[in-house]
Amino acid sequence: MKYSKENFLIENVRAEEIAKKFGTPCYCYSFNKLKDNINKFKKNFSSINPLICFAVKSNTNSKLLNEIKKFGLGADVVSVGELMKALKAGISSKKIVFSGVGKTSEEIKYAISKDILLINTESQSEIFEIERIAKSLKKKVNIGIRLNPNTDAKTLSQISTGKKENKFGVDEKKLIDLVAYVKSSRNLGLKCLSVHIGSQILNHKPYEKMLKVLDRVIKKCDHNFDYIDLGGGMGIDYEGVNKKLNLKKYAQAIQKFVKKYNSKIIFEPGRSIIGNTAVLLSKVIYIKKNSQKDFIILDAAMNDLMRPALYGAKHRILPIKKLKQKANKSYEFVGPICESTDKFLNVNNFQKLNEKDFVIICDVGAYGMSLSSNYNMRPKAPEILIQGSKFKVINKRQKLKDLI
Ligand code: LLP
Repeated sequence: MKYSKENFLIENVRAEEIAKKFGTPCYCYSFNKLKDNINKFKKNFSSINPLICFAVKSNTNSKLLNEIKKFGLGADVVSVGELMKALKAGISSKKIVFSGVGKTSEEIKYAISKDILLINTESQSEIFEIERIAKSLKKKVNIGIRLNPNTDAKTLSQISTGKKENKFGVDEKKLIDLVAYVKSSRNLGLKCLSVHIGSQILNHKPYEKMLKVLDRVIKKCDHNFDYIDLGGGMGIDYEGVNKKLNLKKYAQAIQKFVKKYNSKIIFEPGRSIIGNTAVLLSKVIYIKKNSQKDFIILDAAMNDLMRPALYGAKHRILPIKKLKQKANKSYEFVGPICESTDKFLNVNNFQKLNEKDFVIICDVGAYGMSLSSNYNMRPKAPEILIQGSKFKVINKRQKLKDLI
């Protein structure tokens, strides 16, 4: 995605052409960016030969899941809905792991009936419930146990998951007790030790710490885990300043770690696979000047892209046409929803915008559409997949009449 002369291009297609043809707000994905991300991910970790389970919560579009499947990836799911979507996209049940702190009995039964690779458990009660169901079905169910390593991921507190005050996983001591219990169960197979310390991680050091804790715990468990599931969390460069996680260092640390054990590594990346593959096209409805600043009121809102309102996340905003003029305007980009948190970004040095101009909100592929809602009775935006000079609708704009 780049400018060619003044036009913003997604692969070979002008973003403006898409905005005019399909209206705004509109999600646009680049197929080749997705392909590159997957290939780079595989290459970075080639020495480890992991099973890569795409975190479906980051993007649930069926067509995209199907493309991801074609590259050989499995899926990490957190609900029966995501599990159904992954299966419908053709992902083999033998490449699906089921995570989450609150799986219901119905969800567990469904997962067992589909014979998925692993149910990654997060509490004693959940383990008892799976055992009870497995027994009643006269089955042996393969599970993992998620460790809470009490490691600070050094990311936004709202997306940290690996500290003891977080609801995720079980602590070291509990884990060791649970391992002993599961090993003695006739209806449970203890296959995996899992961990996930948070999301949008840009520093490899928390991962190194996490691996040290895992090392210590595995020794204490005295069990041969077939799988070690390291979760996802690899951050991306939202600011466009080349701030990147050092994947090489992370890969080296894993290599050192895994050498000691005969386990297969599982990853559950979401954002690092899909985050930078998409932009959200939006139109300026009004420009409202007040004494302090100019508000650019967009037709995209927090229901279309929740991350800024929910986490204070910043997504770069670019003009759809880059003009040869001084970029010296200070703008606050907001949505039309009746909430003060419905704002995207404050920008200085933006080129002058006019009402009805289009803009591009960057890096919205992960937790963009999947977190969208119908708040304020707003229909969900369409999704368009672009490959070379071709484009196709992979999810239609919701119709107002279907909402009413
Ligand atoms: N595995 C587990 C168990 C997870 O909880 C998550 C994300 C992932 C994998 C994928 O993490 P990723 O590679 O995408 O960082 N809505 C937030 C992010 C929440 C992430 C929740 N769990 C956001 O928009 O930043």
